[in-house]
Amino acid sequence: MHDTSILAGKHIILGITGGIAAYKSASLVRLFVKAGAEVQVIMTPNARQFIAPVTMSTLSGKPVITEFFTANSGEWHSHVDLGLWADAMVIAPATASTIGKMAGGVADNMLVTTYLSAKCPVFVAPAMDLDMMAHPSTTRNIEYLRSYGNHIIEPAAGELASHLIGKGRMEEPENIVAVLADFFARASKRDLDGKHVMVTAGPTHEPIDPVRYIANSSSGKMGYALAEKAARRGARVTLISGPVNISTSVPGIDVIHVTTARDMLEAAIATFKTADIAIMAAAVADYRPEVYHDHKIKRESDSGLQEITLVKNPDIAASLGKAKHHGQKLIGFALETDNEQANALSKIHRKNLDAIVLNSLRQGECFGVDTNIVKVFDRDGNILLDSPLKAKSDLADDILDVISSI
Ligand code: C5P
Repeated sequence: MHDTSILAGKHIILGITGGIAAYKSASLVRLFVKAGAEVQVIMTPNARQFIAPVTMSTLSGKPVITEFFTANSGEWHSHVDLGLWADAMVIAPATASTIGKMAGGVADNMLVTTYLSAKCPVFVAPAMDLDMMAHPSTTRNIEYLRSYGNHIIEPAAGELASHLIGKGRMEEPENIVAVLADFFARASKRDLDGKHVMVTAGPTHEPIDPVRYIANSSSGKMGYALAEKAARRGARVTLISGPVNISTSVPGIDVIHVTTARDMLEAAIATFKTADIAIMAAAVADYRPEVYHDHKIKRESDSGLQEITLVKNPDIAASLGKAKHHGQKLIGFALETDNEQANALSKIHRKNLDAIVLNSLRQGECFGVDTNIVKVFDRDGNILLDSPLKAKSDLADDILDVISSI
């Protein structure tokens, strides 16, 4: 049985929508209350067809909210106050319809309105028939929720209310409670207190002339997520970032902005001297143009660009691998399309890394998007992490857990 004591005193909004799995929400409230949490239940109008509000109000010890106003007293339920009160919001079961409304901001009931006002982490446990679950609209809406930073508690496969067998069963209440307990345990984790963590992130730009450059489509999101989570876990973080369209406002992070691989190398070597952990998440350009043209190359001129001669850029990770001293941990990333595992492992040894994170390029999970699938290997080829598709922010915590363990 999972330790849920960290939930004591936590304020949890439990949103219940109209699906058969709503009967499980009664156990969910009981488990939260048993763990010492305060639970405010909000039901959609349809949810009342599936489970009686009196059951939920008795178990939670608070009147259930469904409407914006209480009909006879005219009392207004403030979604804003509720959103501020909550330490977490859990929507279980979440129907396709509510997920769609959350994704699209359709605030036509108290539950979705409160969701839009909530400042706290949000957990969504979908429950629906397998065909609805597999529909592209559901898949897309769930992706939207992930991109808003919401945590999706994936439904399990099994027998559904329709007696069909497939994916769509709401996760069991015990497991939902465990997900929240893990979340809060992680949020209060300070295992990197006193450590200096450096992270490289984003692409590099290798200029051809003042307006043109060679680059790649790295967004920097994975590196920024790692930097933010490391800072939240107590580290002093130096984030060496190539040109990206994102920024961070998390305290404890010094950002060094660089453009080229050579700039990044210089910043990395200087930073690594005091770093305990270096995470090389940048997609560094392997080559740069040999010649930089000071003036914009004209299309018409005879000296116009016909070809670009490339020269190799320094390998930053390998340089740090050579300089690494006892007690420093060096973590690399790999993005392979063929022989993924073998190539990742040869990279560990070539660059003298302690572990390597293998990104997946399947279904376009990695570049530019908010989700990813990764495997982490150690020097002996042991798999330290084999993740499902997850938000990069959650994966960042998983990867930091692994790094702490090596
Ligand atoms: O050799 P490859 O580019 O596949 O290696 C990827 C790993 O090495 C990543 O961790 C990346 O950040 C790092 N790297 C680097 N400098 C380079 C090329 C890659 O630090 N020039």
